[in-house]
Amino acid sequence: MQWCFALAKSAKKNPREIASQIASELEKDADLSKVSVDGPGFINITLSDDFIAQNMDVIANDERFGVAKTANPHKIVMDFGGPNVAKALHVGHLRSAVIGEAVRRIELFAGHDVISDVHLGDWGTQMGMIFSEIILQDGDLSKTQTYNIEEISAFYKKANIRCKEDESAKEKARQITAELQNGNPEYYKAWQHVRQESVNAIKQNYQVLDANFDLWLGESDAHQTCGEVVKLAKEQGISEVDAGATIVRLADESKPPVILVKSDGGFGYQLTDIATIKMRYDDLQAQEIIYVVDKRQSLHFEQVFEVAEKLGLAPNVKFKHIGFGTVNGADGKPFKTRDGGVMNLEDLIKLSLDKVKESLPETAEGYSSEDITKMAEQIAIGAIKFQDLKNNTASGYIFELDDFAKFEGKTGPYIQYAIARINSILRKSEISPDKVIITNKEERDLALKIAQLNAVISRAEAEKEPSVISEYTYNLAQVFSSFYNASPIMSETDKAKSASRLRLAKLVRDILKLNLYLMGIEAPEAMLKK
Ligand code: ARG
Repeated sequence: MQWCFALAKSAKKNPREIASQIASELEKDADLSKVSVDGPGFINITLSDDFIAQNMDVIANDERFGVAKTANPHKIVMDFGGPNVAKALHVGHLRSAVIGEAVRRIELFAGHDVISDVHLGDWGTQMGMIFSEIILQDGDLSKTQTYNIEEISAFYKKANIRCKEDESAKEKARQITAELQNGNPEYYKAWQHVRQESVNAIKQNYQVLDANFDLWLGESDAHQTCGEVVKLAKEQGISEVDAGATIVRLADESKPPVILVKSDGGFGYQLTDIATIKMRYDDLQAQEIIYVVDKRQSLHFEQVFEVAEKLGLAPNVKFKHIGFGTVNGADGKPFKTRDGGVMNLEDLIKLSLDKVKESLPETAEGYSSEDITKMAEQIAIGAIKFQDLKNNTASGYIFELDDFAKFEGKTGPYIQYAIARINSILRKSEISPDKVIITNKEERDLALKIAQLNAVISRAEAEKEPSVISEYTYNLAQVFSSFYNASPIMSETDKAKSASRLRLAKLVRDILKLNLYLMGIEAPEAMLKK
């Protein structure tokens, strides 16, 4: 302990002497089995087996397994998902949904009041692109109401190619977007339909991923507030006009200024986010706002937060951008399909499902084919999510096509399998779990691992880093494996030992399940294997 040295200094004594004095006091504590002084003045303490065992009983009897709630509960608005209307969700949207949902659950578990908002991209140039493409093909927008999401996406794809090649098409799209934003009733009616169709499709996607949003607001909802913010900025003398655009300069002149209103009069992406902050403060009473968005947008968020603070739009609100790295292919570049296209989220999920099905039997006694399908889905989504969450958020990762769905290694299915195995032990056991006693090294190691849970979840919450939980979860499953190999449960003839081991096993099962839940992953009751 470091403070022996500080104490020694102020008492003008030898650190080792101070350490010995403290150690002799500590020795009286029955919870410590060994106290020793090492080196120049370090005190090593060893917790007694009894103390550790009692601790396990306390954790097992607590519905939160000893995890403390936050001392400072507050209202958090979480902005993640961020899908764009009329564009299919692709692999780039995966991390925002997966990390966002995990952080949402971690914050809720910590005791915060969390509101999640999907923040749809529903007001940008892609709207004008779709409409100009429809007009080009149909003559007008009268048929728009009959188009489903596949048809709408097809228009968008064509428009995208056209606008890349043809500057005038791009200009037309910009004009239509501006008119839509200014309230043109024909465009607005078409927009409502396109938005609704997209929301229906996007909701299905997020349902499969079990990503949950309380609010389905979008950029369009901030339109009116954008106008108010521009007015405020002018009144406060914070904005200036530069080459026809209304801008705000930042304290650090090396950062580009924020464009509130573009020279064509349109509201930009930055203004939308600034106005949305105002709404989240005024309407939702947000005390903290967390964004889970690609780290390539870091500068955007720095700019947005600074201007929101400058304007005093959300006093005392804490802003946090969780910037994540990209999902990459084997070549280290953003993940693509075999033909070089962007990988759709739906295709990615199907790929994972096919992989998992290779390891599952097609039929099994006591299981209907629906049971097996459900199991395959839980494993496939678990595999995708765990592969994502096992990586540090800020770093990108390579989507491992071969190993991510294996039942061994650092994978979701490995953890799910550990849970299923304990479920089966608990089902088969004839005695009930009871008082923990520590009788060997493996039991002790396991108990010490279990005792780390509170620190692990608190750290994951403080750092907004779900990988802290995935790492611990994997370690816990491994330590459990060693424990189980060394400490038989069923074949143990000493009833007290076997009841104690059963309690430890059940506790591990419950903690693994809790941790998977916090990562947004379901645990099947049982797992079949081919
Ligand atoms: N729709 C945006 C995009 O595709 C992401 C939105 C992120 N959230 C936000 N509040 N800006 O880039």
